[in-house]
Amino acid sequence: MIVDPIRSGGVVPESVKRSLLEYLNGYSVCMYCPGDLHKITKPNIKRLIQVDLPEFMGADVVRLVHGAREAFFTVFYALFKEHVLTRGDRAPVIVVDGNTHYSLELAAERSLLKIIETETSGYPLFKVGLEHYEEALESVVEEHGKPPLVTCITYPDGKYGNFPDNIKGIIKLAREHGSYTLINAAYSIGRMPVSLRDLEADFIVGSAHKSMACSGPLGVLGMREEAASLVLKRSVRHPSKEVELLGCTVRGLPAVCLIMVMPYLRRRVKEWERVVDLARYFYERAERELGLMLLGEKPHSHDLLHFETPAFYKISLKLRDRFFLYKELKKRGIIGVKPGITKRIKLSTYLLNREEVDYVLDSLREILELGEGD
Ligand SMILES: Cc1ncc(COP(=O)(O)O)c(C=O)c1O
Repeated sequence: MIVDPIRSGGVVPESVKRSLLEYLNGYSVCMYCPGDLHKITKPNIKRLIQVDLPEFMGADVVRLVHGAREAFFTVFYALFKEHVLTRGDRAPVIVVDGNTHYSLELAAERSLLKIIETETSGYPLFKVGLEHYEEALESVVEEHGKPPLVTCITYPDGKYGNFPDNIKGIIKLAREHGSYTLINAAYSIGRMPVSLRDLEADFIVGSAHKSMACSGPLGVLGMREEAASLVLKRSVRHPSKEVELLGCTVRGLPAVCLIMVMPYLRRRVKEWERVVDLARYFYERAERELGLMLLGEKPHSHDLLHFETPAFYKISLKLRDRFFLYKELKKRGIIGVKPGITKRIKLSTYLLNREEVDYVLDSLREILELGEGD
C-alpha cells in the first residue's frame, strides 16, 4: 500500500503495464517520425497533444516535456530571452508563492531570473492569498520599474496540499501588473479536474509521473495560444524543430504510457470529490483519535496530508531508533513515510479505499502503543 504523496498518483494501471513492454527500447516511438515528435501518428502522439491533452487541461497548445521542472525552465528561458534580453520590458524576476517547489526555483536560477517569494499566513495554516501576491508584485515594480516576468502559483503546493485563496484574483492582479502567469499543477492535473482556460492563466504545468498514472520522466506544458507563440519558436536551421524543446522531447515509453492511460485519467478525475472526502475522514480521525495534527488549510481539499507527530518523535527517543516508524509501517505493508522521519510526516490517501484508510489508522494506533509504559 503506497501512502507516499509523490508516488501515489503515478502508479501505472496493471492493464497498461504489459503493453508498454513493446516500447522499452530507445527511440521506440520514432520509427514513423515525420520530423517532429509531436506530429507522430504511430503511436498517436499527435492526437494526444492536439486533442486529448488540450481537452483534458483546457489549454490551446500542449507539449510533452520530461517533467514539471523542464516545463518551468522551457517557459522561463524563452520569456527571459524575449522580454528581458530582447525587448527589455520586464524585470528579470519571477514572483512565487511562499510554498513553491524547489524545482521551479532551480528552473528560474538556470534562466538567470531572481526569485521573489510571497509571505504565507505562517504556522500552522501556511495559506497564500491575494494580499501576499499584491505585496510581492508591488515590491518588484517598485525596485525595477517594470513588472516581473512571470508570476507563479502552486496549485496545490507539495508541502501542505494547500490551494491558494482566490486564484483567479491572483491571476487577474498579475496580469494587470503586466506579468505572465504560470500555474504549477504538478499535484492536480491527473488527480482532479483542472482547466487553464477556466483559470485564465498563460501557462499550466503537470507532472505525469507524479499525478497522471505514468512512468516517467514525463511532464505536460499547457499554454494559451499567444503565450505559446513566444515559447515555441522554430529553428532557423531545422524549421521542423522547436528550439526550446531541442527538437524532440520524450522519445519513448512515457509518451506511449500517457496515450494509454488517458481514458483512465478522464474517469479518475471525476472521482475527486470522493478522494477529498476520504482524505478528510482520515485526518479528522487521525487528529481526534491519534493526536496527530494536520498542518495546512482546513477543511483540507487534497489527498496530500502533512501531520505534526510529536508522539512518534518521543517514541523514537525512547527506542533510540529514528527509523522505527518506517520499519513498523513497512512490516504492515505500508510504504511511503520517509525513513528516519518522525517529527512531521507526509501521507497521501490517494487511491486507497475506506477499508485501507482504516487499516492505516489502525496501524498507526498500534505503533503509537509502542510508546506506552516505561
Ligand atoms: C509542487 C511540485 N511541483 C513540481 C514538482 C516537480 O515535478 P517533476 O518531477 O515532474 O519535475 C514537484 C515534485 O515533487 C512538486 O511537488
